[in-house]
Amino acid sequence: MREPMVLDLFRLDGKLAVITGGSKGLGRSIALGFAQAGATVVVCSRDLAACEAAAAEIAAVTGQPARGCEVDVTDEASVAALFDSAGEVDVLVNSAGINIRHPIEDYPPEEYRRVVDVNLNGTWLCCRAVAAGMKARRRGSVINVSSTLGAVALPERTAYAASKHGVIGMTKALALEWASSGVRCNAICPGPFLTEMNRPLLAQPERVAAILGAVALSRWAELVEIRGAALFLASEASSYVTGSSLFVDGGWTAA
Ligand SMILES: NC(=O)c1ccc[n+]([C@@H]2O[C@H](COP(=O)([O-])OP(=O)(O)OC[C@H]3O[C@@H](n4cnc5c(N)ncnc54)[C@H](OP(=O)(O)O)[C@@H]3O)[C@@H](O)[C@H]2O)c1
Repeated sequence: MREPMVLDLFRLDGKLAVITGGSKGLGRSIALGFAQAGATVVVCSRDLAACEAAAAEIAAVTGQPARGCEVDVTDEASVAALFDSAGEVDVLVNSAGINIRHPIEDYPPEEYRRVVDVNLNGTWLCCRAVAAGMKARRRGSVINVSSTLGAVALPERTAYAASKHGVIGMTKALALEWASSGVRCNAICPGPFLTEMNRPLLAQPERVAAILGAVALSRWAELVEIRGAALFLASEASSYVTGSSLFVDGGWTAA
């Protein structure tokens, strides 16, 4: 039998990938990487214009079909509309996320609920929306973007850490639930990337020093550094990997 060429295992030719939170940051970077590997990508967030702009750039750079779609992952009807129109999804990346930082006594309950609603409940709604189709086709890879804070924590991140720990638990449950159907579910746990989510931290150099001090590689990650992990989990290269959490955290959780 001919052995497969290892780099071919990472190709996504003919695959349709939906990336929530694809308008910017990690989601946009992952979408570009998938398109470079041959996928058709749908990038979505609440900002349709930003998604269409991101998709146009990805299409121009890669020559692959890409389109933008509007979705609010906290809204069941909006999620249903996205997946009704998306086509047969092979890869779903749940990258939509927010972070709000307060000590618990100053944390408005509605903001706590908002973080959990986007990061945890939104991920659940999108996983639910692709489940039946992927199981029926007996193929699919779902990648939930958790965080280093899905395994460790920082002060003033009660909502964020709870939601990201929850995403890892949900990912394991889905991996078991879908295993016999040929559908895989894994988590990526990024360390610090200097996206819009983290820019407010730059006004607090002592916080940046504390975070980067916890990272063995002692630096922010570059956006391109999420792509290899995402492509691995999306593609046949990870065909025996499910229920796992892949830490792209510069060694933060090694300590
Ligand atoms: N940056 C880091 O260091 C880091 C570390 C660990 C984990 N993460 C995780 O990585 C993921 C991406 O974060 P990022 O750093 O790339 O942040 P970002 O640049 O702020 O991007 C967040 C994305 O989520 C979308 N989004 C927010 N709320 C949404 C909603 N209700 N429905 C649909 N889309 C929504 C945003 O678009 P709209 O605002 O247009 O909706 C945007 O596309 C998040 O899950 C985050 O928790 C990031």
